Amino acid sequence: MNTPAWTALPERPAWKALHAHYENMRGLHLRQLFADDPGRGPRLTVQACGLYLDYSKHRVNDETMQLLIELALACGLRERIEAMFSGQKINVTEHRAVLHTALRAPVGEKIMLDGVDVVAEVHAVLDKMRDFTRRVHDGNWRGHTGRPIRNVVNIGIGGSDLGPVMAYEALRHYSRRNMCFRFVSNVDGSDFAEATRDLDPQETLFIICSKTFKTLETLTNAHSARQWVLAALGDESAIARHFVAVSTNAEGVREFGIDADNMFGLWDWDGGRYSMDSAIGLSTMLAIGADNFQAMLDGYRAMDLHFRTAPFERNLPVLMGLLAVWYNNFFGAQSVAVLPYDNYLKRFPAYLQQLTMESNGKRVTLEGIPVDYQTGPVYWGEPGTNGQHSFYQLIHQGTKLVPCDFIGFCQPLNPLGRHHELLMANLFAQTEALAFGKTAEEVRAEGTPQELVPHRVFEGNRPTTTILAERLDPGTLGRLVALYEHSVFTQGTIWHIDSFDQWGVELGKQLADRVIPQLEHPKPDALAHDSSTNALIRHYLQHRQG
Ligand code: F6P
Repeated sequence: MNTPAWTALPERPAWKALHAHYENMRGLHLRQLFADDPGRGPRLTVQACGLYLDYSKHRVNDETMQLLIELALACGLRERIEAMFSGQKINVTEHRAVLHTALRAPVGEKIMLDGVDVVAEVHAVLDKMRDFTRRVHDGNWRGHTGRPIRNVVNIGIGGSDLGPVMAYEALRHYSRRNMCFRFVSNVDGSDFAEATRDLDPQETLFIICSKTFKTLETLTNAHSARQWVLAALGDESAIARHFVAVSTNAEGVREFGIDADNMFGLWDWDGGRYSMDSAIGLSTMLAIGADNFQAMLDGYRAMDLHFRTAPFERNLPVLMGLLAVWYNNFFGAQSVAVLPYDNYLKRFPAYLQQLTMESNGKRVTLEGIPVDYQTGPVYWGEPGTNGQHSFYQLIHQGTKLVPCDFIGFCQPLNPLGRHHELLMANLFAQTEALAFGKTAEEVRAEGTPQELVPHRVFEGNRPTTTILAERLDPGTLGRLVALYEHSVFTQGTIWHIDSFDQWGVELGKQLADRVIPQLEHPKPDALAHDSSTNALIRHYLQHRQG
């Protein structure tokens, strides 16, 4: 890989320059920055790929942006982007390429990996998904008793769940209303029970989504689904009509009893959290149809090309990623709030939690050296305006700095009286309030009693990004998801970490495997955990019969 020789991040001149620059910026108020530059709003806005991204309400000036871009260049971001797009094995701890961008590459483009054209493989799977979707929709694929499929239950967890759920909710407006879509992820039996209690097994299709086909939660739920179908239909041959799988593990799928013909393939170069536009999105395609799914892929693709080619100063994911680094590493911000002003995006923050935190929650560099700087922040959020009546208090007046991403749409999908104007007015007002606040003089001028003045002052200077799009449609969703994917990559490149592995989830899984037999075949006196875990297990065993 043609990446510049690695220098520890704190040693980089651009990093040191940013530290010095931060000392000048930390005391500067957004009120001042806007007063000094009346054109700042439109000047610090970039429009690309149908998105309008305003970063003027950030605590930055031209020098900040220039230094951040110098840092990105020094960290080899340009080379890393090329390495990712061209299929180099940048997931070093798993020796894998990182090619989610191939999932949206058009027919005819070639990306060769170990002598295989991955784009051709992607399109073969897409064709199979389209064919299957058509058969389900037109009633050629029916349940065991000949009834059409009306219910689709996606069983998966992590990247095999969060993307499908988020996309279904986000694009519900475009979904087939004569079908019902449910998502089961948790190993808690209540999840499966509630998702299926009112469904007719004769009309229900289960999609078992698991890249590895080894995940405890998914296999447990899949076996319960199998029993649920068999209990109702009483015949093993029903499985073939009511189960399909999405996986890389053909052997595991076959052992479960799903025919290879009913399996949709995945590849080890696509991480779970980057896979909602692969066959993991089969439920999405069934919900919105193949044309809308293609429009979503086209949206992703537009952002991919932008990320790969646009100069950094006008590159949306690069700017977002660098601003995240600015607050995380220089202002000491611990989290980022994502606040979509669109109810259809209610699962978007949850989706981003896996994308961002499983990717960048790392404590060692690519070479395995512990970092001595902060890496990935906590991402969280809720749709506006609900969050305003809940946690915004802390963002406005608390002691923590929480940079926020506001996401809004110019056109409502459900025009209803004044609703959309009220929604958008709130979005604009919040970013204005967070940036400019309200001074003690302004509070006093409202006739506020002196003892209440400190309580009613808004310090302001709270940074926000605002992202506006015309309307929430499949293409816009693809562009938004790719925007965050590439912002995560930008951040991971600066921090010099592997954004594509997730070893941190393993220990809990291993220890759970040890505890499971201790609950299923208990020998309380033979427990050999620490005293806390032993006592918790014994308490549970004593009380579990009710
Ligand atoms: O445990 C974490 C994880 O490996 C995620 O990265 C992944 O998205 C999820 O589990 C599900 O994995 P699978 O698709 O293999 O069932």
